Amino acid sequence: MGYRHVNTLSFGDPFRDWLVEEVVGHCLRNKKCLVDVFKYDSSHTVCRYQFRGEHLSVMAKFFSEPTGRMRDYNPYKGMMTEYRNLKKAALTINVAKPLAINERFNCALVTEHIPGKSLSWYIKHEKGLYGRLTSVGHMLKRLHENTQSSYNKENEFRNFHEVLNHLELKHDTREHFNKFLGEWWYSSWLDRAHGCMIHRDATPSNYVFWKDKPYALDFESSWSQAHPVRDLGILSAELKNEFELHKGGGWRAEPYIGKFLREYSKDEKDFFRITGVLPFFMSIGLLRSAWLHQSSYRNYLIKEALECLKAIN
Ligand SMILES: Nc1ncnc2c1ncn2[C@@H]1O[C@H](COP(=O)(O)OP(=O)(O)O)[C@@H](O)[C@H]1O
Ligand SMILES: [Mg+2]
Repeated sequence: MGYRHVNTLSFGDPFRDWLVEEVVGHCLRNKKCLVDVFKYDSSHTVCRYQFRGEHLSVMAKFFSEPTGRMRDYNPYKGMMTEYRNLKKAALTINVAKPLAINERFNCALVTEHIPGKSLSWYIKHEKGLYGRLTSVGHMLKRLHENTQSSYNKENEFRNFHEVLNHLELKHDTREHFNKFLGEWWYSSWLDRAHGCMIHRDATPSNYVFWKDKPYALDFESSWSQAHPVRDLGILSAELKNEFELHKGGGWRAEPYIGKFLREYSKDEKDFFRITGVLPFFMSIGLLRSAWLHQSSYRNYLIKEALECLKAIN
């Protein structure tokens, strides 16, 4: 994930002064310090504000400036949702803590800056990856176990259909998906007594390691009353995708996915149940990625997603 220096703000800039006066003032020695601004690759405008000479940075995400392809987007709602979800998740796991929100500055959400490498980096370099996946597995387990609620099975299927609708598949392909989704619906695989809070955007760039501990970012699309294996399926699909595109083949991701799921599981029985439902959620994960790709790779992902769905016991 890249970033670049885009600006330097001085005393008198309204956003800078708000940050200093209302958000981080108590941490600064020199309240007149310059602030360097670094812009990150993102679907919103995401910037880091580094207070010169102070060893302090914060991040700001501006929800009124989406740069992705979302239409009909309510920025105020987006900002509030992520703010609340971060606060809730922060009770059980490490997240980039929310520090402030401000509707007047393009719906800005300010959070702590986590200075470290993301899981994407560890995948790219295949360095200590088993250990990093172990920590993320334990972190997700903690989030899921400590946020138990009721469970909404309908929502899981509704979302699957939404993802399929987005892709505008050929009639035959869509019918194939519908057929297997029907089998999943009537099987007991997706039944459960409880749901929980899930991260949902469980992509490698949203996990950052600092002092060997994982931190989760980006909670705008987090859900409650959800099936916990969704997070595992999305991350597993992302691993497969990364290895297929850049690391010599999707099959090479399998030992990593296996380790990740084992670390998440309580015991053998839990592992069996998780691997039974995983294909359903991995299928969604692959379809989400298909949405971001064109032509032949997109078709490959759609085919793989259908294969996953067929793997119902
Ligand atoms: N608190 C933070 N600490 C460190 N890096 C961050 C933080 N927030 C965002 N980033 C960086 O900015 C990127 C985009 O931010 P994110 O909140 O994930 O937005 P998006 O919705 O576009 O994915 C992240 O992938 C990460 O590289
Ligand atoms: Mg993100």
